[in-house]
Amino acid sequence: MLDPTLPLGVFDSGLGGLTVVREITAALPHERVLYLGDTARVPYGARSPETVVRYAQACARALVQRGIKALVVACNTVSAVALDVLRVDLDLPVLGVIEPGARAAVAASRSLRIGVLGTAGTVASGAYPRAVLSISTRAEVTAHAAPLLVPLVEEGWIEGEVPHLAVRRYLEPLARARVDTVVLGCTHYPILRPILEQEARAMLGEVAVVDSAHATAAELSHMLSTRGLLRTRGDGDVELLVTDRPRTFAELTQRFLGGEEREAHVIDL
Ligand code: DGL
Repeated sequence: MLDPTLPLGVFDSGLGGLTVVREITAALPHERVLYLGDTARVPYGARSPETVVRYAQACARALVQRGIKALVVACNTVSAVALDVLRVDLDLPVLGVIEPGARAAVAASRSLRIGVLGTAGTVASGAYPRAVLSISTRAEVTAHAAPLLVPLVEEGWIEGEVPHLAVRRYLEPLARARVDTVVLGCTHYPILRPILEQEARAMLGEVAVVDSAHATAAELSHMLSTRGLLRTRGDGDVELLVTDRPRTFAELTQRFLGGEEREAHVIDL
């Protein structure tokens, strides 16, 4: 029997997954979160599925060893290629970001023409189309890789003409497919949400922008309460583990998580 007072384990290829933690702490203020960012090996988005699976198993092991009650895979690329392996490996509930994102997209879409932006790995895996089609066989999914958006966010280029131009280019195939819903299928894209919304509306008119981080926090809340794992009192907190301390650590954690400056423990996997 898992102990509801244990922390939730959350991991990502780097610090971008803190966008998922931000949604989790907003939805579940009593939960303790143990977050691992594999900052020594980020980015995962252009790596082979075999490598991503290996990295994901190492991250999951490090969190399980420290004692967690459930695992949230905040990284879309890992959720796309390694979720089934982690579910077989681990003896606790495992939630990824793709299924919640797909469900939220189907709920938001009227035409069921759904667009997805993600890393090259996420798009190549076909995980979002598969997840959407498992909910509605009438849906048509256009998924497109938007690799430049990750370094733009990491570098803090989140305003001005450069991100606008990049976002417009990446939305073009989605506009040609006349989607009415765009899924932000990457940890970093919620930071560009205002620009993505503005450009998507300019190109497509009325369009829903679905954030898989937000959808995942809502499903996590449901999953914890149905399994008797919800922590209903006490202060929540977030403990950060990283595999390397990036030069811009403070800047990145504030960009992705908000709030005050944070410390992190560096661990080896
Ligand atoms: N966390 C990754 C994702 O959500 C983006 C960064 C990376 O490529 O590692 O797919």
